[in-house]
Amino acid sequence: MYLGLDLGTSGLRGVLIEEAGTVIGSAEHEIATSYPRSGWSEQAPEDWIDACRAVIARIRAEHETEFSKLRGIGLSGHMHGATLLDADLNVLRPCIMWNDTRAAQEAAKLDQITDMRAISGNIVFPGFTAPKLEWVRTHEPDVYSRVAKVLLPKDYLRLWLTGECISDMSDSAGTSWLDVSSRTWSETALRLSHMRLDQMPRLVEGSEVGGDLRSELRQDWGLTGPVVVAGGAGDNAAAACGIGSVEDGAGFLSLGTSGVLLVARDRYAPKPETAVHCFCHAVPDRWIQMGVILSATNCMNWLSRNLRQSVGDLAGALPKSPEGPSAARFLPYLSGERTPHNDSAIRGAFLGLDVSSGPVDLTQAVMEGVGFAMRDCLEALRSTGTEPSSLMAVGGGAQSQYWLETLATVLQIPLALPRGGEFGAAIGAARLAICAASGAEPTDVMSPPEVGSIIEPRADLFAAYEQAYQSYRQYYAALAPLAQR
Ligand code: XUL
Repeated sequence: MYLGLDLGTSGLRGVLIEEAGTVIGSAEHEIATSYPRSGWSEQAPEDWIDACRAVIARIRAEHETEFSKLRGIGLSGHMHGATLLDADLNVLRPCIMWNDTRAAQEAAKLDQITDMRAISGNIVFPGFTAPKLEWVRTHEPDVYSRVAKVLLPKDYLRLWLTGECISDMSDSAGTSWLDVSSRTWSETALRLSHMRLDQMPRLVEGSEVGGDLRSELRQDWGLTGPVVVAGGAGDNAAAACGIGSVEDGAGFLSLGTSGVLLVARDRYAPKPETAVHCFCHAVPDRWIQMGVILSATNCMNWLSRNLRQSVGDLAGALPKSPEGPSAARFLPYLSGERTPHNDSAIRGAFLGLDVSSGPVDLTQAVMEGVGFAMRDCLEALRSTGTEPSSLMAVGGGAQSQYWLETLATVLQIPLALPRGGEFGAAIGAARLAICAASGAEPTDVMSPPEVGSIIEPRADLFAAYEQAYQSYRQYYAALAPLAQR
């Protein structure tokens, strides 16, 4: 038996699986986020441990016999968060999260240093870890002077599980301190951002062993045999393991709160100026190329709140299939944008409205706007030399046939829908645990799920959506100079 634990932004999900991949049980526990000021976002690391205890207690209560056969645990988590520990490994302040933008100035400064992009393969985005430590250095010097270790969120859970400070390369690639090509900490990147190698955890591959479960916990949980904790992964690399995006070119399109277009690569192919994220994969000798938009289904949630209609009702009022693009355009930059603009100041917009525009037009424009933003990600990936050979569609937004057909047509790529079941980051983490505990080949374990259906692009509508996409692109160029900076 193997347990995957995914520390998500809104809660921790645990999934217990057998070696063959069958799901035995699962549980979730919510985690609160606090927003002490505009643009700030923090969580208490102790809450992650409470959530982990609650999830394990529930799974044990429901599947005691199976749980007692646990051999491995895999960890996945939201990336980039700064968990700061003192010399006794006590938490110094709340974790500054991936979606916290307080360090925008520090990020811009670090990003100006040529070596930072050259080493890390990425823009130093405001949400990444290095600029957060720069912010703490300036604004909380007492805390900064006591920082003995910096852990990513899932690795703080590992510290509790194993007593060791260890991270994996896929998550560490989002710090700006990793040499993403050689998969090692870069002393140069650390020095340029006023950090030291001894403040970093030891690195292992996601599919390798990254510690053993402490004997106290084994006793508490009724486990007699040894239990290894795998290196694990940042949430996107873990999701890629869960959906089988491991072979070169295999990718997924995720329509969650944010939107992700991820493609696995068998080589390191960075091009930071495109704002494509280039991270290590959770398995050796693989990398991931990723376009990230900050608001995907979140745009539908926003529209739903403002029109006072549920997302389901809004989507249900659209025809079954697209009939052509709306005359209205929507720019989905409600929280700024990462790929391709790296612009934290840009905001959303509706354009091309007329007196007849109603909720149905707005819903259509929002779905199309997210589709065009994902097309921007695809073009950015292409400019790095990355072309998806297949794309699985996942996430809450993938429930709308209309949205999926719009996306397939805007991207001009078929989208495969997995047939039911579980294939998220928690499953990916459990699969990494299988590799670490049994020594199985990652490519044998990370198989794609069975395809339930394929959403074909509508060739009859290519020209119309292509024209609409071109007008969408011009709107960003026209509005960017007007954004409040
Ligand atoms: C990736 C990113 C998010 C977070 C939270 O760069 O910021 O995917 O990991 O899910």
